[in-house]
Amino acid sequence: MSRLPSIYADPALYDLVHAEGTDDEVWLLTRLAEIHGCGIKTALEPACGTGRYLAGLLRRSWTVEGYDLAPGMLAFTRKRLAGWGKRVKLARGEMSSYRPKRRFGLIFNVLSTFRHLMSEREALAHLKLMAGALEPGGIFILGLDLSIYGQDQPDEEVYECRQGGRTAKHVVMSLPAEPETRRELIINFVTTPKGKKDSVLESSYDLRSYSAAELAELIGKSPLRIEAVYGYDGKDAVLDGPERALWLVLKARAG
Ligand SMILES: C[S@@+](CC[C@H](N)C(=O)[O-])C[C@H]1O[C@@H](n2cnc3c(N)ncnc32)[C@H](O)[C@@H]1O
Repeated sequence: MSRLPSIYADPALYDLVHAEGTDDEVWLLTRLAEIHGCGIKTALEPACGTGRYLAGLLRRSWTVEGYDLAPGMLAFTRKRLAGWGKRVKLARGEMSSYRPKRRFGLIFNVLSTFRHLMSEREALAHLKLMAGALEPGGIFILGLDLSIYGQDQPDEEVYECRQGGRTAKHVVMSLPAEPETRRELIINFVTTPKGKKDSVLESSYDLRSYSAAELAELIGKSPLRIEAVYGYDGKDAVLDGPERALWLVLKARAG
């Protein structure tokens, strides 16, 4: 695992730059659970960050559990979800070792967060732990961006972000991974107005890359199988098709 990016030490800022679209994603999570799941409205989010998805699920009558490695993220989420009582459980945990004490109808790990696990051993450990925490017929939604080695170009995207009265400009740059090292470099700049001057937070980190074939091979080694594949927009997709930002619906293999 690489050192945690500095933006994870500022949960309020993280939440501001990721607020837009959260409700739509929560809707999509619940829709996919209705289509592919087992009807049990319990959800687990590994690496839950600021709990923005958990809050949406609680509002839709789910019982939720989340864990995260960053103490600041957990403290923020505890405060955010404090009013929901026994329908929420939060814990400090690491994706490759946290073993939930119960089972869930829905587990989800989206936004390429799984790619923080920098080795095959850690990635497989996480998939095994999550497979073991699924209710019979439950689903694990894994959301991540795939690489095409040799074709991917350096990229830069700019987002104007707004939450309540706060605004920020979020610039996300990425340098493509090589198949030998499987490290994609992500560089974030978040600019927020502060008095007469702007404040800029820079945050750089590597994510482990996956081509479609590498991801299929990894899942093949795990106790999970691919049930369905969607784009981030909820449209049908295939693992090795043109769409590179995917939500995979995974289920535990029989036996
Ligand atoms: C991109 S954020 C995603 C947060 C939340 N899931 C969301 O989508 O808004 C990544 C989160 O993963 C956590 N994290 C990174 N590596 C981790 C690990 N190995 N185990 C547990 N949490 C980790 C960070 O602290 C951070 O909160």
